[in-house]
Amino acid sequence: MLPEAGNTIETLLSRRSVPALQLREPGPSPAQVDSAIDVALRAPDHGALRPWRFVLIQGAARARLSELFVRRMQQREPPTPPGKIDKARDMPLRAPLVIAVGAQLRRDHKVPEHEQMLSIGAGVMNLLNAFHAQGFGAIWLTGGNAYDPEIAAALGFDAQERCLGFVYVGSTSPTDNPLPARPERARFVRDWRG
Ligand SMILES: Cc1cc2nc3c(=O)[nH]c(=O)nc-3n(C[C@H](O)[C@H](O)[C@H](O)COP(=O)(O)O)c2cc1C
Repeated sequence: MLPEAGNTIETLLSRRSVPALQLREPGPSPAQVDSAIDVALRAPDHGALRPWRFVLIQGAARARLSELFVRRMQQREPPTPPGKIDKARDMPLRAPLVIAVGAQLRRDHKVPEHEQMLSIGAGVMNLLNAFHAQGFGAIWLTGGNAYDPEIAAALGFDAQERCLGFVYVGSTSPTDNPLPARPERARFVRDWRG
């Protein structure tokens, strides 16, 4: 076993998503964000296609994202219930860091698209674990705004790219969110003996 591996397992076992509205200042430092992105980039990647894209949204840009969310939501689904608008408006304002996750998929490649998507999922999992290991809460959310082509374009994703959602990151209190019970392991695992 690697030194510290026991702690690593404990850290991984203690990760849980934190609702975006519970996240708060301070956010991770630039060096902590860099570390988390570097860990994301260690995800397995068939063909070394590097299919992931990460757009960092911090500071005043979060207010512009918040306005964009509300405007597009009102255009897509009028009349939008006020509670839904409030939530969409507040999430990027509460979380100090929002990361839009993008996919740049190669359609003509021998590595199938679903494998490229799996690499991105593995990268985001690494990202979530890296923020957790550095003491931050985070959650990966999708929904109508994540899949809205106008929002994707506003975030700088080109026609070849897709937005796969937003990772919200910030400080949290362990008492905010007790660790939920996980499903029973035996339900998902079996031995195969040939
Ligand atoms: C690709 C993806 C998209 C998700 N989108 C949403 C979402 O839009 N809304 C939501 O409530 N949870 C969403 N989730 C689930 C949360 O990120 C989180 O996993 C869930 O709240 C369970 O928490 P846990 O990670 O602690 O098990 C999504 C998860 C994944 C993997």
